[in-house]
Amino acid sequence: SIIILDFGSQYNQLIARRVREMGVYAEVVPYFEPLEDILAREPKGIILSGGPASVYLDGSPTIEKALYEQGIPVLGICYGMQLTSQLLGGTVERADKQEFGKAELIIDELESPLFKDVPNLNQVWMSHGDHVTVLPEGFKQIAHTDSCIAASANVEKNIYCIQYHAEVTHSEYGAKMLENFVFGVAKCEKNWSMGNYIEETVKSIKETVGDKKVLLGLSGGVDSSVAAALIHKAIGDQLICIFVDTGLLRKDEAKNVMEIYGENFHMNIKCVDAEERFLSKLAGVTDPEAKRKIIGKEFVEVFNDEASKLTDVKFLAQGTIYPDVIESQSVKGPSATIKSHHNVGGLPEDMQFELLEPLRELFKDEVRAVGRELGIPAHMVDRHPFPGPGLGIRILGAVDKEKADILREADDIFIKELRAADLYKEVSQAFVVLLPVKSVGVMGDERTYEYTAVLRSANTIDFMTATWSRLPYEFLDKVSNRIINEVKGINRLTYDISSKPPATIEWE
Ligand code: XMP
Repeated sequence: SIIILDFGSQYNQLIARRVREMGVYAEVVPYFEPLEDILAREPKGIILSGGPASVYLDGSPTIEKALYEQGIPVLGICYGMQLTSQLLGGTVERADKQEFGKAELIIDELESPLFKDVPNLNQVWMSHGDHVTVLPEGFKQIAHTDSCIAASANVEKNIYCIQYHAEVTHSEYGAKMLENFVFGVAKCEKNWSMGNYIEETVKSIKETVGDKKVLLGLSGGVDSSVAAALIHKAIGDQLICIFVDTGLLRKDEAKNVMEIYGENFHMNIKCVDAEERFLSKLAGVTDPEAKRKIIGKEFVEVFNDEASKLTDVKFLAQGTIYPDVIESQSVKGPSATIKSHHNVGGLPEDMQFELLEPLRELFKDEVRAVGRELGIPAHMVDRHPFPGPGLGIRILGAVDKEKADILREADDIFIKELRAADLYKEVSQAFVVLLPVKSVGVMGDERTYEYTAVLRSANTIDFMTATWSRLPYEFLDKVSNRIINEVKGINRLTYDISSKPPATIEWE
């Protein structure tokens, strides 16, 4: 495997994903993990990530120098290059000209294993304020740009350094260079595939669970569904799923989930119709955070009520995925990792279960691949995320059944049209918001006075920042016509053109 030591770069997860796409297992580990623990993982290669710090400042992240003496190939990227150079006796300085963006890489040593099948002169992505000015002894410059030493190597010790970010797609041959390091230098073997993963995980779930029962809150979202399918494959009816219909779900959600996972997969699912409970608690409440709290609390209560009817449940399964794990071990400190949302409302702390998290090692695209291999239909595996509080935070102001029904219809049209136009996968999250605002319209000869709705569609990589989707006018026109004509209760539609920040993706 490859270990990525994380110095806080925004690209650290990307490095791991690139390596895994090559069929090699990669994990992201905080830079301060003790060397012996790193070695215990038996890595074939170590990649030092980029990071926001400056190596010459006091207290900047560092590692034990002995790491370079283990006979394990090392690739330092950006901060990783600067740290390696400084620790081994070179010099790092603030650059006169900081580089952010594309730069032309001129290779000085075309024979270097790092540049196998990479042409001289190619584009790379730079993002740095510091650079290496003097290389340590034993190192040689193997590439440059017009403003810096772009790559260096100590061939004897198998240590390679690059100033640019090979992991981002803007680096034309970046993937190739990473591949050269992983296979050519670190001599890794391809043995990471979702087929293998399923096989091994099924085996380990069987061993862990034995003849005990496992409880899982199935939301219909990608993570909980794939976790359920995987556990079900391992232990069949020992898995008990609880699906809570909050009355705030998308159109036909409960029906679809029961059809796919209950009937087709033969999973043991208890569908709890809790619409009445949720809507009565929400009646008249307009404050977004108050609504969130009510929905979260009610969810836990409904789930508890159902769970307490079961006996012999030893495990609670959750769809935790690798980015959550990396985030929780983040090296950036608490301020950079504020995450205000939890997927399924958060479960009670006093529940006496052991956790079972079969997707903990997987990135989202890998979770989807596992889902596909397990036979979950494509339209479920490629779904956009859906917030725990559901339509409760997409009906602005007070929530009631009439509004929820109106919103469900409108949202369903928008989503189906996105799919029909092959746009669904082009956007990261799309939905309709219902405003507590009525306006005047005319339909046939009649005056109407109905609600205003908003189409929201966002493009994002990490949901921390986002832009509004540039959907074609013709498409928007079609959706608008359909919603206004077909959904009773809405006579006016707008398109949200706000970016995040300063807006958020949801309206509440
Ligand atoms: P915002 O609106 O903060 O949303 O830009 C970012 C992402 O988080 C989702 N979101 C939530 N998910 N519970 C959740 O489980 C919540 O209370 C919640 N609020 C927002 C939102 O859908 C988007 O994907």
